[in-house]
Formats: sequence, C-alpha cells, structure tokens
Amino acid sequence: MLMLLGWKEDKTHKNTHKNTHKTKPATGKSPPTLSLHIAAQMSFAPVLSPTVPLSNGLQIPIFGLGTSHFGGYSHDSIVYALTECGVRHIDTAKRYGCEEKLGKAIRESGIPRSDLWLTNKLWPGDYGYKAAKKACLESCSQMGVDYFDLYLVHWPEPLQPGSSNREMRAETWRALEELYKEGVCRAIGVSNFLVHHLEPLKEDCSVVPHVNQMEYHPFQQPNHLKDYCHREGIVFEGYSPLAKGQVFSEPTILQIAEKYRRTPAQVCIRWSIQNGVVTIPKSVKRKRIQENCQVFDFQLEESDMATLSGLHDERHVTWDPTNVE
Ligand SMILES: NC(=O)c1ccc[n+]([C@@H]2O[C@H](COP(=O)([O-])OP(=O)(O)OC[C@H]3O[C@@H](n4cnc5c(N)ncnc54)[C@H](OP(=O)(O)O)[C@@H]3O)[C@@H](O)[C@H]2O)c1
Repeated sequence: MLMLLGWKEDKTHKNTHKNTHKTKPATGKSPPTLSLHIAAQMSFAPVLSPTVPLSNGLQIPIFGLGTSHFGGYSHDSIVYALTECGVRHIDTAKRYGCEEKLGKAIRESGIPRSDLWLTNKLWPGDYGYKAAKKACLESCSQMGVDYFDLYLVHWPEPLQPGSSNREMRAETWRALEELYKEGVCRAIGVSNFLVHHLEPLKEDCSVVPHVNQMEYHPFQQPNHLKDYCHREGIVFEGYSPLAKGQVFSEPTILQIAEKYRRTPAQVCIRWSIQNGVVTIPKSVKRKRIQENCQVFDFQLEESDMATLSGLHDERHVTWDPTNVE
C-alpha cells in the first residue's frame, strides 16, 4: 500500500509510543491508515512501528511478536524484543501455554503496561458464556495484567456438545461483549472466522468484531475475506507471515530478497505491511527478532508486491477453517 509512502517521522519525539495505541477518532469503515510512532531508540536502528486504527478508535501496532508453542518459548528473547528492539505488540493465547512466563518477561522488561499492546485468545474448551468470562479473567491473572488490548475467539468450532456452532459462538461472543464493556478487553475479535461464520455472528450480536486474525503469507492470501473485513470495519490481522519457515525455500522470495539486500523474512513481513495487514512473526532467537523488526526502512516496488501476490497456492501451514459449519 502506497499509503506507507506518506509516513512522516516526527524527529522531535523520543519514546513517543506512550499511549499511542489509545483512542483516536473512530474511523468506522474507512480504509486502514497508518500513523507513525517511534517505538524506541535503539543502538542498531530505530524501529518505526506504524499503527492501524480499529473501528473503536484504538490503534493496533501493525508489527507484533508471535509467541506460539511450536519451537518453544524464550524468556530472554521476549525481554530483548521489548527492551532492545522496541516491540510493543505481543500476540499470545492460552493455548500456547506461556501466559505466566510472558507476564514475568513483560514485568522484567520494565515497559509500562500502558505502552504495550497485548493480544490473548480464548480456546474452544472455554466457549460458552460463563466459561469464557472465567477463562479471560484467569488469563489476566496468569499474566498478571488487569486487561487485554485485544481478546480473540481463537477458532470458530466449539468443543462442547449440545448447542449448534452458531449458538455457541453467539453465547461466547456475548461474554466477550461484556468483557469489552467492563474494560477487561479494550477490543474484541475473532480468529480463523470466514464470511460464513462472521455473517451469522453479525446478526446474533451487537458489537462487530474489531479484528479477524487469519493465516496470511504469500502462499495463503484470503483476499475475498480481507476485502469483506475491510468493508465491515474489521481489521484484518495475519498470522504465520513466514509460513512457519516455508517461505525460505521459495526461489522467487529468495530472488526478491537478494535484489533488496534483505532477508526473505524481511521481504515477507514487509509485503504484509505494505498490504496494510497487521503481522506477528514469531521467533525465539534474538538475531531473528532484530532482523524481523527491521522492515520500516525500505519499500517493495509495486512489481515485486505483485510477484509475491502471485505466489498464492491456497496452502495452509496452520489450520483451515473452511469446513467448520
Ligand atoms: N490465531 C491462530 O490460530 C494462530 C495460528 C498460528 C499462529 N498464530 C500467531 O502467529 C504467530 C506467528 O505464526 P507462526 O509462529 O505460526 O509462524 P511464522 O511466524 O510464520 O514462522 C515462525 C517460524 O519461523 C522461524 N523464523 C522466524 N523468524 C525467522 C528469520 N528471520 N529467519 C529464519 N527463520 C525465522 C521461527 O523459528 P525460531 O523461533 O527458531 O526463530 C519459527 O520456526 C504465532 O507465534 C502466534 O502468535 C496464530
């Protein structure tokens, strides 16, 4: 997205990320625009982390750090990302089993809670009104925080027998709406929801999800869903931006990386960002975290953006919700 060309760096502020993801005027269904803030002053290079506005006016940093359970967890890397790389957005889930450790790392970093964007997710075993409320509060307690910036329904299929998927999703969503109104969640959303999950939810509920987090990388581009979310005022967030490492063996991506003298990871993260998609690459290695953050000082040409977009082959590297009713 060429909107990125319009970024202006405010040289006067230092660490002005403070509260930048707090309220800004609500933008409803307008296209995602990016506002710039300097996430931190660092020894190697400043990380410039733009934000994307949600329909309730909050600003989600377009770049975040994933923490999924595959490949382990590293306390040291989380602290490093926060204190040295300027990362201010962390994505986690109860499912990843690191809530307590992550809370400890965040406290150790010394970054004030109000400067951080923290996303957590509700696992299907906790669906249903009472269970969802309980699980969210327990997750807060595990992490030692009072609120989440974003809380997502992780997957569209409940595990509980009895009610239909649609009924259970609506009942669960009602709990999230209350958590939102109570301020325990500053924004609420879904993950892995397709149009046939979102449309009934819209009929059954009062708060439209602020975010839909989906698998998104050059091999998996659900552009129809992305456009739908855009029209409905739902921010589209992409997970597994490196296709869990599969992008590193794609010759086209290697060639483009060579052209820009960047790494394949940086090219793929940059491609997501230029498409206006919030992206959350995961690494437990310091050097890679630093590398993945360095994506705001170059721009992919339109022709290379198009080449990368041409790599879509419908491949899923995580899970595929297509057949979930
Ligand atoms: N909502 C959902 O259903 C859902 C599903 C999947 C993921 N997610 C979220 O999205 C995040 C990212 O997705 P992901 O973890 O599946 O996959 P990913 O970010 O596409 O790829 C992670 C893999 O790439 C490696 N890696 C990272 N940076 C690298 C670099 N610069 N060079 C070489 N290798 C690199 C990592 O290894 P090392 O760690 O060893 O560096 C890891 O094996 C998750 O952590 C999670 O927070 C959400």
